[in-house]
Amino acid sequence: MIESIEISSAPRGRLSTRAIAMPADTNPFGHVFGGWLLSQMDLAGGTHAYRRAKGRTATVAVESMEFHQPVYVGDEVSCYTDITRTGRTSIAVQVQAWVRRHGGDDALVKVTSATFTYVAVDDSGNKREVPSEG
Ligand SMILES: CC(C)(COP(=O)(O)OP(=O)(O)OC[C@H]1O[C@@H](n2cnc3c(N)ncnc32)[C@H](O)[C@@H]1OP(=O)(O)O)[C@@H](O)C(=O)NCCC(=O)NCCS
Repeated sequence: MIESIEISSAPRGRLSTRAIAMPADTNPFGHVFGGWLLSQMDLAGGTHAYRRAKGRTATVAVESMEFHQPVYVGDEVSCYTDITRTGRTSIAVQVQAWVRRHGGDDALVKVTSATFTYVAVDDSGNKREVPSEG
């Protein structure tokens, strides 16, 4: 909805991934699939969690997924991530996706946000404790 456009606010967290939406990522109506965007966000959150966990993580939950604006072919999609909670074995990452419109100006438009939870796992896929920071 137009009312939810965020022009004055800024992305939260660090830039973890950036990609261009391609024709193969669209539905028959020319809008980018929500699933493509979700996977971009999971990659971004997983990259951040991997760094914090110092190794492999598995996605266990996605909460509060919101689609604020559509994404179009050619848009530059940037995913920003911020760790909001670190538990014994889990890491919650707030992920926001912002776009610069293809052919538009430099304005950033927030298109989605969600909280992803990752669990630190060992080589066998069993959960392990998140190591202390540093
Ligand atoms: C990751 C996995 C090994 C965890 O094993 P588990 O026995 O389910 O683990 P637990 O129930 O003890 O939960 C582990 C942590 O995740 C958290 N967690 C589990 N489910 C959660 C949920 N739905 N939302 C938020 N956190 C959750 C727990 O609170 C716990 O956190 P903490 O240790 O920091 O307190 C197992 O769930 C798994 O293999 N899942 C599939 C992962 C996967 O394949 N992901 C890719 C999907 S394509």
